[in-house]
Amino acid sequence: APMHAPLRHDSAHKHVAGTADYIDDMPEPEGTLHAALGMSDRAHAEIVSMDLSAVRAAPGVVWVMTGADVPGVNDISPSGRHDEPVLAEGKVEFHGQPVFAVIANTREAARRAARLAKIEYRELPHWTDVTDTLAHGAQLVTDPLTLSRGDADTALANAPRRLGGQMRIGGQDHFYLESHIALAIPGEDDEVTVWSSTQHPSEVQHMVGHALGVPSNAVTVQVRRMGGGFGGKETQSNQFAAIAAIAAKRLKRPVKFRPDRDEDMTATGKRHDFLVSYEAGFDDDGRIHAVKANYAARCGFSSDLSGPVTDRALFHADNAYFYPHVQLTSQPLKTHTVSNTAFRGFGGPQGMVGGERIIEEIAYALGKDPLAIRKANFYGEAGSARSLTPYHQPVEDNIVGRIVDELERSSDYQARRAAILDFNAKSRVIRKGIALTPVKFGISFTATWYNQAGALVHVYQDGSIHLNHGGTEMGQGLFTKVAQVLADAFQVDITQVKITATTTAKVPNTSATAASSGSDLNGMAAFDAARQIKERLVAFAAEKWNLPPEEIAFVPHHVRVGETLIPFADFIRQAYLARVQLSAAGFYKTPKIHWDRAKGIGSPFYYFAYGAAVSEVSIDTLTGEYQVDRVDILHDVGRSLNPAIDMGQVEGAFVQGMGWLTTEELWWDDKGRLRTHAPSTYKIPLASDRPKIFNVQLAEWSENAEQTIGRSKAVGEPPFMLAISVLEALSMAVASIADYRHCPRLDAPATPERVLMAVERLKHL
Ligand code: MTE
Ligand code: MOS
Repeated sequence: APMHAPLRHDSAHKHVAGTADYIDDMPEPEGTLHAALGMSDRAHAEIVSMDLSAVRAAPGVVWVMTGADVPGVNDISPSGRHDEPVLAEGKVEFHGQPVFAVIANTREAARRAARLAKIEYRELPHWTDVTDTLAHGAQLVTDPLTLSRGDADTALANAPRRLGGQMRIGGQDHFYLESHIALAIPGEDDEVTVWSSTQHPSEVQHMVGHALGVPSNAVTVQVRRMGGGFGGKETQSNQFAAIAAIAAKRLKRPVKFRPDRDEDMTATGKRHDFLVSYEAGFDDDGRIHAVKANYAARCGFSSDLSGPVTDRALFHADNAYFYPHVQLTSQPLKTHTVSNTAFRGFGGPQGMVGGERIIEEIAYALGKDPLAIRKANFYGEAGSARSLTPYHQPVEDNIVGRIVDELERSSDYQARRAAILDFNAKSRVIRKGIALTPVKFGISFTATWYNQAGALVHVYQDGSIHLNHGGTEMGQGLFTKVAQVLADAFQVDITQVKITATTTAKVPNTSATAASSGSDLNGMAAFDAARQIKERLVAFAAEKWNLPPEEIAFVPHHVRVGETLIPFADFIRQAYLARVQLSAAGFYKTPKIHWDRAKGIGSPFYYFAYGAAVSEVSIDTLTGEYQVDRVDILHDVGRSLNPAIDMGQVEGAFVQGMGWLTTEELWWDDKGRLRTHAPSTYKIPLASDRPKIFNVQLAEWSENAEQTIGRSKAVGEPPFMLAISVLEALSMAVASIADYRHCPRLDAPATPERVLMAVERLKHL
């Protein structure tokens, strides 16, 4: 059956050959104009005056647009707080904030002209860093969250042992290969069509509508594929789309807006940096009694998605561990930096890495293997008192114990750890580390209403099938998976299913393709559409051939009617002649979930995905340089919809997570200017940074206990956090300097400089 088969990504060969069409590859309509941004060079200032005459007079310039030219509302805030202008008016709140846009005959002309503005500012105090912001009144961009259960203060006071500390966790740029882009084509009256590289076409539709002052039915947003999104195109596409659409309507010409890499990295949000302050009470066996932690985040100048991102940090601060008494708080801080946004894991990775730091602290304090501490604190049996999360949802599908046991054995963890301890005792300069870390990741949007999806399926007279749904393709293989679901339902070849561009005109009111839920939601919606068409086909055949409905079945390439096999296309043709409706809109909403944010109580997740990784590293204690020698992964995707694609997701997520925790460093100068806005200074993992040995396995025995599509589980984000094992392996290598009795408190990213500084710290204890 096509479902569960390791089929290749429908565009894999096109990605490799360079023949996959991205928006910038589409033939440009006659008369297309090009946009570029004029950006603030102050982090926080009032705009005293703006002289754009030189910009307007520059060669090729057709129009210069400011905030005052926005015909509707000058706001693209996805949170509804009206705190994010399309173009800044009156004041700027970060270095690089878009202040105006130039529309010119060529992209080059627009970019050159944008540099000619004369803007006079009155500077205001700015702070870019979490610590600075905390020292200056700690203004928030959105409401904080508290999760609590039991009595953390009393349990901390009564615990046999107690420790506390802080961890800094850096942000991350998405570094999608295709930068942001929008192509707006004006239509009749109030209409406009926007091709946008976005994970969230419906939101782009709403934002363009607001900015233009036209209803949603005037705006169509389309996207065939993105060259990567990783959360960076969940809300950040709005600005480019809005500017292109406003200019297109005003000038009655198509307008394309493709920032270059530096502009894209400067003007769009990233993963949030965090400062985690933690206290833990525990006993001599390493059992946790209580945890209290505060998660302060650099949110940037506006709310964007900082609410749900900082919430999710708290949802994952427990990772796979039961905290008998717990109090977790978030602090979504306003900073004079670009507004941070969704990024694979949505704050979950930061929450989890903080929680894992607590495990490390306990292990080094007791002189034990962190893995032993992990096992002592795993969630207990379903239904037991030890199964409750800090948000009061019980963990009912816990398989972390089995995953960890199997991986511990298959990776030969214990023998390798013993060999490494031995090696380190003898080696002077090179030290090694090994760590096994688990992942438990909740699946569903915590904004419950987002957990819905639609699909539109047509079967044509020749038996070919047209598939459309609300999900977007960003390389993750969603389109292939949903096509597999349809091919399986009709028992046809996947090549008979045409995968089509996402468009707001076919499936309305869609959610962002995010929270790893794309195939769970859209797979089910497509399945529902197929079910409706099949029901009509069965009713038609039962009547026509005078058989009970049970005698009609969809079998490979045919429909079996009683004893007769009719080729699928012939059968469909007959149904058409009998006037059977061969098109259906499918719909799905995730059952069971609910969440009361004010109380911090509910069941926000439909189920959990699990995994574990063992990483082994070597560090040079004289330079801080390191390499990842070996990684073993066992990851749970339930019954995989497509093992080939899922393996790719696990490997890719791990390497992206490793980049975040090791070499990718965002750095702002004292003027509040991001200085790492290109690959020359911002180091993503290279092919040569991959683990030298990389064994990845899916837990083939796993099956989702819930009724998801094909009993599969979401895969997009959970494996990202497997990379925490790399950070902790580095940490163990450093800890060898002081006989593993001191937690190195290695912050992220653990760049070679940070590793070296940690080594020096431990040397001079
Ligand atoms: N894989 C690729 N190749 N490119 C991407 O941009 N985004 C990730 C993940 N895997 C991404 C990816 C993120 S952040 C999410 S939320 C999921 O894919 C979204 O897709 P899904 O819900 O269909 O898994
Ligand atoms: Mo993924 S961060 O939810 O787009």
